Amino acid sequence: MLRTPSAVRDAERYTAHNYHPLPVVVSSAEGAWLTDVDGRRYLDCLAGYSALNFGHRHPALIRAAHEQLDRLTLTSRAFIHDQFADFCRELAALCGKDLVLPMNTGAEAVETGIKVARKWGYQVKKVAPGQANIIVADGNFHGRTTTIVSFSTDDDARADFGPYTPGFTVVPYGDLAALEAAIDENTVAVLLEPIQGEQGVVLPPEGYLPGVRRACTDRNVLFIADEIQSGLGRTGRTFACDHEGVVPDMYLLGKALGGGIVPVSAVAADADVLGVLRPGQHGSTFGGNPLACAVGTEVVRLLATGEFQRRSAELGERLRAGLEGLLGSGLVAVRVRGLWAGVDIDPALMTGRQACERLMDRGVLAKDTHGSTIRLAPPLVITSDEIDHAVAQLAAVLAG
Ligand SMILES: Cc1ncc(COP(=O)(O)O)c(C=O)c1O
Repeated sequence: MLRTPSAVRDAERYTAHNYHPLPVVVSSAEGAWLTDVDGRRYLDCLAGYSALNFGHRHPALIRAAHEQLDRLTLTSRAFIHDQFADFCRELAALCGKDLVLPMNTGAEAVETGIKVARKWGYQVKKVAPGQANIIVADGNFHGRTTTIVSFSTDDDARADFGPYTPGFTVVPYGDLAALEAAIDENTVAVLLEPIQGEQGVVLPPEGYLPGVRRACTDRNVLFIADEIQSGLGRTGRTFACDHEGVVPDMYLLGKALGGGIVPVSAVAADADVLGVLRPGQHGSTFGGNPLACAVGTEVVRLLATGEFQRRSAELGERLRAGLEGLLGSGLVAVRVRGLWAGVDIDPALMTGRQACERLMDRGVLAKDTHGSTIRLAPPLVITSDEIDHAVAQLAAVLAG
C-alpha cells in the first residue's frame, strides 16, 4: 500500500494551512535527487527556494555538521565560541565587507538591515527623530514578519496583518526615475532584491542597479541588497549584483548560507554602517551558533573556489537554451540568470500549479509563483543531462 496518501492527510490534519505543498512526501535526498516515502525519485528543481544551492547533503557540509555536532552546538552570544571568528572573517571577505552580523532566518536578516539602516540614519545621517524612511519596490518579497509584510504589495502576504509598520515608501521596481524622485532628506536606505525571485525571477532593466547605486551614493542613502535568494552562486556569480558590477552598502544573506542543513542568515556591511550597533541593541539566541558557523564557514569555502558560480553560469546557458526552445510551444516568456529561471506558461493552457503537479507526476519538482509562472532553481550540482531531462519533462507537460 502506498504511504503517500495517509502522510499527506496527516500533514494537512495537524498543521495550519499556511502552505499548499505538492502532495509528495520526501524521505531522503542526495545531490539533485529526492526520494519519497514510496520509493519514487524526483529531480529537485526548486532546491528549497535556493537554500540547497550545493545540493542535498553535500559531503563537505555534512562532514562539517557532524564534526560540530560531536563537539559543541550552542553557547548563545553571551560567550564566544571557536567557530565564530572564522565564519565571520571568511564571510566578510567573500562579501568584501568589514563586518558581518549573523542571524538565523532570512526575515531576521531583513529586520536587522532595517534596524541598522534606521540607526545609521539617526546617528550618522542625522535624520530627525522618528522620521527615517526606507524605499522599497513593488512586487518585493523580503519575508513574513509584521514589519516586512507592512511594505509588501502582495495582498495575500499583507491583508489582515495590520496595523502596519510605517516608514516605507513603495516605488515601481526597475523605475530609476521614480526611485530618485522618492528620495528625500529622511531616506535612510533603498532596500531591493537585485532580481525578484518570488515575483517570478523578474530582472530589472539593465542599468537600473548601477543607477540605484549612484543615486544612493549621491544622496547619502544606504543601498541594501537582499541577496537572500539571488546570492551565493545562484545566478552564476557570487551575488546577483556582481552582474552589473554593483556593490551595495549592505548584503542580506540567508538560505544557501546554511548549506540546506541549518538556518543561517547574515548582514554584511562596512564598519561605518554595522558599527552603529552597541551591546543590547540587537541579537538572537541562536544567531551565529557553533553549528551554524561550522556549516556556514564550509559554505563560504565552497563558494570561494568559484566552482559553483561557474557551474551555475555554464549550466544556466543550457537551461536558457532549453527553455527558450519552448517559447511558442506553451511558454510565453522565459527569464533566466544562471541556474534560476522564471517561466511563464500560456495561461490558456494551465496554471503554474497544474504545471507543477504534472511535472511532479513526471518526476520533476518545481514550484509555481503567481498565476501561470513557475520557477526553476535546481541545485547547482545538477548535471547538463539532468537539465535536459527537466526541460524534456516540461515540454511533455506543455504538449499535454
Ligand atoms: C529575497 C528574500 N528575502 C527574504 C526572504 C525570507 O527568508 P526566510 O524565509 O528565511 O525568512 C526570502 C524567502 O523566500 C527571500 O526570497
